[in-house]
Amino acid sequence: MQDQTPRLEIKHLRRSFNGRAVVDDVSLRIMPGQVTCLLGPSGCGKSTTLRMIAGVEMQDSGEIWVDGRLICDTVFRIPPERREIGLMFQDFALFPHLSVADNVAFGLKGMSRADKRARVTELLERVDLLRFIDGYPHQLSGGEQQRVALARALAPRPRIMLMDEPFSGLDNRLRDGIRDETLNILKDEDTAVLLVTHEPDEAMRMADEIALMRDGKIVQQGAPYNVYTRPVDRAAVAFFSDANVLRATVTGALAQTPFGRFLAPGVPDGTQVDIVFRPQHVRIDFDRAGAGPKPTASDGTAARGVVQRARFMGNESLVEFVMDYDGSTLKVTVPNVFLPKSGTVMWLTIRRDKCFVFTAKDPH
Ligand SMILES: Nc1ncnc2c1ncn2[C@@H]1O[C@H](COP(=O)(O)OP(=O)(O)OP(=O)(O)O)[C@@H](O)[C@H]1O
Ligand SMILES: [Mg+2]
Repeated sequence: MQDQTPRLEIKHLRRSFNGRAVVDDVSLRIMPGQVTCLLGPSGCGKSTTLRMIAGVEMQDSGEIWVDGRLICDTVFRIPPERREIGLMFQDFALFPHLSVADNVAFGLKGMSRADKRARVTELLERVDLLRFIDGYPHQLSGGEQQRVALARALAPRPRIMLMDEPFSGLDNRLRDGIRDETLNILKDEDTAVLLVTHEPDEAMRMADEIALMRDGKIVQQGAPYNVYTRPVDRAAVAFFSDANVLRATVTGALAQTPFGRFLAPGVPDGTQVDIVFRPQHVRIDFDRAGAGPKPTASDGTAARGVVQRARFMGNESLVEFVMDYDGSTLKVTVPNVFLPKSGTVMWLTIRRDKCFVFTAKDPH
């Protein structure tokens, strides 16, 4: 049953600044060795949530539990330094007057010199910086300093690691390697990780669970695959990729669009819905003497569009169409190289099994 206790559990955390709820009833559970990514736009309350768990910000209400023990509510509070929580923040500076080894050893208490040195060596080896062990922070590049900061945070084997955009200062190539190595270390040590990011790619790559946060609330939570393929609303789709949207009005549980009718089960007549689909879920057909493919029951109707521009993105090509039906722009991605000239007429069909139908939040 031991395994059933979350390493970190927060219950109904709330914090307001100047009468505005910045963190609004946030609850989360993270098991040992699991990574949860708190993903959301700037200002949604991610850092404030982390700061409360770290103990450097006090919540207005709610509880924080570690391994089944209450560590903080509104009356009882274990101070930050006794929480066994590691912190890794974007702007977490090293101590400039301490050597790399002493920086990494900083949080190691009650160990012999030899044991400290062994732990420091082990960590610097893992972040590939052992050659700098006796160097000083000013001799290191920004990315190298960040890796030392990571080693410093990991050294005391924290039960929980809170990371706030820890990789954002690194260039892409370096970032992938460090991200993976960081994950390996944290998994090896069974640490529970709460990682803040506003980059969906980073969250998909690192997370066992994604918690999507907006305006102080967690709007959706689950495995990356589930959050990506079963988004709760239009904004949740748009958070992970470009999203195309068709607005339509429902009659008889069907929404009529230029691409044919879409099922809208249980939606009352007269309701406006948004049919949302990602750029990779549109099929392109060439124009054949002014016509596209014939409508079918499974694929619906093709709509005519004119290529506005096409760009090669590396793994795929992004083609933007101006649609005949209302002059709006529709984005389509195609694997590999597909670069039709602007002005080319083509016919588009939507992959219906990949569409999301949501009640419009701002009907007009
Ligand atoms: N000490 C404070 N006093 C007043 N307002 C604050 C304070 N700390 C945070 N806020 C406000 O709370 C909101 C959430 O801030 P927070 O730092 O948690 O956002 P975030 O999700 O981490 O954003 P970002 O991705 O930009 O880092 C912001 O509007 C911020 O201005
Ligand atoms: Mg922040």
